[in-house]
Amino acid sequence: MKRISLTQYLVEEQRQNNSIPAELRLLIEVVARACKTISHAVGKGALGEVLGTAETENIQGEVQKKLDIISNEILLEANEWGGHLAAMASEEMESIHPIPNRYPKGEYMLLFDPLDGSSNIDVNVSIGTIFSVLKAPEGMGQPTEADFMQPGTQQVAAGYAVYGPQTMLVLTTGNGVNCFTLDREMGSWVLTQRDMQIPAKTKEFAINMSNARHWHAPVKRYVDELLAGETGPRGTNFNMRWIASMVADVHRILNRGGVFMYPADLRDTSMPGKLRLMYEANPMAFIVEQAGGAATDGQQRIMEIQPHKLHQRVPVFLGSRDEVAVVTGYHQA
Ligand code: AHG
Ligand code: MN
Ligand code: MN
Repeated sequence: MKRISLTQYLVEEQRQNNSIPAELRLLIEVVARACKTISHAVGKGALGEVLGTAETENIQGEVQKKLDIISNEILLEANEWGGHLAAMASEEMESIHPIPNRYPKGEYMLLFDPLDGSSNIDVNVSIGTIFSVLKAPEGMGQPTEADFMQPGTQQVAAGYAVYGPQTMLVLTTGNGVNCFTLDREMGSWVLTQRDMQIPAKTKEFAINMSNARHWHAPVKRYVDELLAGETGPRGTNFNMRWIASMVADVHRILNRGGVFMYPADLRDTSMPGKLRLMYEANPMAFIVEQAGGAATDGQQRIMEIQPHKLHQRVPVFLGSRDEVAVVTGYHQA
């Protein structure tokens, strides 16, 4: 097999489709390098003293794990000095992080969930990193949070790394979705899946069933119908998976189809769902749509939502097109 590295893929993509300017290429390579470093830390586990809790809380009021903080630091440090960014934002930081004045500034803005699936860190289950790239608005001065308030349709790149049995990087720049596997010995990302496609139909769903009693009627109806199986209204048996790492659940769906749901529920109506729009839902929606799937909040395309807050939450229904259409339809009925 002829091996194509991430670098070669990016250079050739630029030559053929003119879709990845040099600065964006650098940005993607730097993020990928940071993910390699995170993967290494994750792989060390207790031997690297990276497991456990950090005794701090993030802006979402969640207790931070050591790896949440380590991964955030790795991404910040890697991306500060290259001259490709104007600012960054992260799940683990209350406000945006403008590039310090001692470095040149670029025209891109990077958002990330440095470590997704934190509850799985200490039990050696797959976790990941999610990122989204926006362009700085024309004529932007000192970056502010307002500059980040762009709908997901404005993303120029998005991706995730999944730290599982293998470490993989899944990437889109708006021209399909490709997957790279980390060759741990060589330290390089190798293209292993081109143009990933999510099957339109599926018999598999993913939702945290323990919240069922809090769900709104459309979600209840949809999941009840799936659970009713062959003799129910859907006339077929559905299977369920829930890893509790969005990255790992989405990665399964990209490979074999499925529908992923993290709905809003009745517990706290000021918090519509759990997942964050800017650095979880939007990048995943971009990837899923680029692979022929769909992503909605039950009412509209996730990528068309106009954000108003950096850490805003959003209900998420994404994956195989036909199933996302059914559950979205129940919300609109
Ligand atoms: P994070 O670890 O970045 O806070 O995100 C965790 C998210 C997501 O990865 C996953 O789908 C979901 O939380 C799991 O939630 P439950 O624990 O409610 O199942
Ligand atoms: Mn997350
Ligand atoms: Mn996280």
